[in-house]
Amino acid sequence: MLKPLMAGNWKMNTTIRTGADLVLKLRDLLKGVEDVDIVIAPPFTSIYHLSHLVADSRIKLAGQNMSWEKNGAYTGEVSAEMLLDAGCRHVIIGHSERREYFKESDSDVNKKTLAALRGGLRPIICVGERLEEKESGNTLQTVKRQVTGALDKLRPGAVKEITIAYEPVWAIGTGKVASPQEAEEVHIAIRELLFEMFGPDVKDVRIIYGGSVKPDNIDSLMAQPNIDGALVGGASLKAEDFARIVGFKPA
Ligand code: PGA
Repeated sequence: MLKPLMAGNWKMNTTIRTGADLVLKLRDLLKGVEDVDIVIAPPFTSIYHLSHLVADSRIKLAGQNMSWEKNGAYTGEVSAEMLLDAGCRHVIIGHSERREYFKESDSDVNKKTLAALRGGLRPIICVGERLEEKESGNTLQTVKRQVTGALDKLRPGAVKEITIAYEPVWAIGTGKVASPQEAEEVHIAIRELLFEMFGPDVKDVRIIYGGSVKPDNIDSLMAQPNIDGALVGGASLKAEDFARIVGFKPA
């Protein structure tokens, strides 16, 4: 079994002060936890401040998005170098909210993934089908297209640095979670596709699940052999809930 990765995506929530309160609580609650990689993705404006608060803890920081450009006249964008400089080691790429509200395409996700890796960040690449795609039986087709698109032109050696987050769009923020078996089936398909694309190196690639992960469903999700962690939105804003998720109890 791979070391689980539990990531909290704070989205456009928290200020520097409320984010610091959350991190301090989390640090306390997570003290005894070992053998789990823990990542939080606060808003850009809080990252540098929080980097000091997590410095001597197991918590690592992620950006929620980044530019594929290195630097220059791109008003409003943030580069890999800036995220690294502020204290991030990871970056979330291609979240469904970015795809839906900001029209990010598979090719944008690909450019960002390559730029993150070039810049020394570990991308957490989000894929997942919309409700219409699920209802028309196109879940696997959609997810495979997104994974193939995101990883185009990736050096085989670099695949070890990535994480794939399978997040069915209909499950995000809706309280509807994919059943552990439904998620497992997609995770297996992603793993097989990665193997076809990159060969045996992909055995170390974590495929994590996201979409209404909560303290009361994490144990059954993590009981699936191909679910290697979780990307958590709403429940990551409550220290006790996120700590319970990180400290999941394998069934
Ligand atoms: P949710 O969000 O846990 O609130 O459903 C998950 C995500 O968007 O990553």
